Amino acid sequence: MTESTAAAPGTEHPGAVTVRVPAKVNVQLAVGGRRADGFHDLANVFLAVGLYDEVTASPADRLDLTVAGADASLVPLDSDNLAYRAAQLLAARYGIEPRASLHLAKDIPVAGGMAGGSADAAGALVACDALWGTNASQDELLKICAELGSDVPFSLLGGAALGRGRGELLTPLETGGTFHWVFAPAEGGLSTPEVYGECDRLREAAGSGSGVDAVPDPEPSGTLLDALRTGDAVALAGSLSNDLQEAAVSLRPALTDTLRAGLAAGALASLVSGSGPTCAFLANDSEAATEIAGALLASGTCRTTRIATGPVDGARLVDRTDS
Ligand code: C5P
Repeated sequence: MTESTAAAPGTEHPGAVTVRVPAKVNVQLAVGGRRADGFHDLANVFLAVGLYDEVTASPADRLDLTVAGADASLVPLDSDNLAYRAAQLLAARYGIEPRASLHLAKDIPVAGGMAGGSADAAGALVACDALWGTNASQDELLKICAELGSDVPFSLLGGAALGRGRGELLTPLETGGTFHWVFAPAEGGLSTPEVYGECDRLREAAGSGSGVDAVPDPEPSGTLLDALRTGDAVALAGSLSNDLQEAAVSLRPALTDTLRAGLAAGALASLVSGSGPTCAFLANDSEAATEIAGALLASGTCRTTRIATGPVDGARLVDRTDS
């Protein structure tokens, strides 16, 4: 892949365009009460990590979609796919026909709590914008991202950011270094609405209520933001939190074994990534990450492991073919 510059504004691109988009882990996911619209207000601290999907948009007579990768059979190929919807929405915004053949090369776990679907949506937007020469501003792209899903704006932006509202209102965060992670995708995914629903159910069962009046407003942790800013992995490990973890573990009790195995293998901390079921382990350095990944696999508590560092850039054009 070669990095390349964007086409001249307003110029339709004659060849294929490829965009690389990272996964995310939530280093803090504070979940407020259930709002009247069904969503939950969040203090959501996102970190983009170097596991990538690639989205290629090629000229075509109409919109179609193909998917490759280990979990490709789990990915919808119609308008249930966020990448497909992203292309439709961009075309509608500019009053053009969505003529593109989209190909997703997936490496981010599907339905794993690492924003793989959101990554594909952000990637499709950037790729179609370049292919069609619509030349949308970043603000315009971020607005379309927010219509597609709560995590999609962050997939476009990358780096580290605090998400407020339902996660779509982003403030970029300063980071002071690179953090080393091991990820353990689970067998099969979890549905995000089901995990939020389970979180509400557990709150109700505990007698505290699950509405906005019953649950304290979610706030970002100052200690965690300091740890990100200074690049202090030990301090970050001490302040990681995910209010959806209990719900994900309630729906998938075996995750407890995976989380414990990573800690026993020397991880500084372990937590469920977003709505899960992927488990994330923070390591001291790259050697520790390799050791933890090996020990986790040997423990038999996960199907595979992946090593990645963050923060990394969001959706970026990596290749275009002029033919
Ligand atoms: O925005 P997105 O399409 O990713 O949300 C999927 C589902 O996750 C929503 O329909 C809702 O059930 C739940 N959700 C939520 N609060 C959020 C984000 C998502 O309840 N802040």
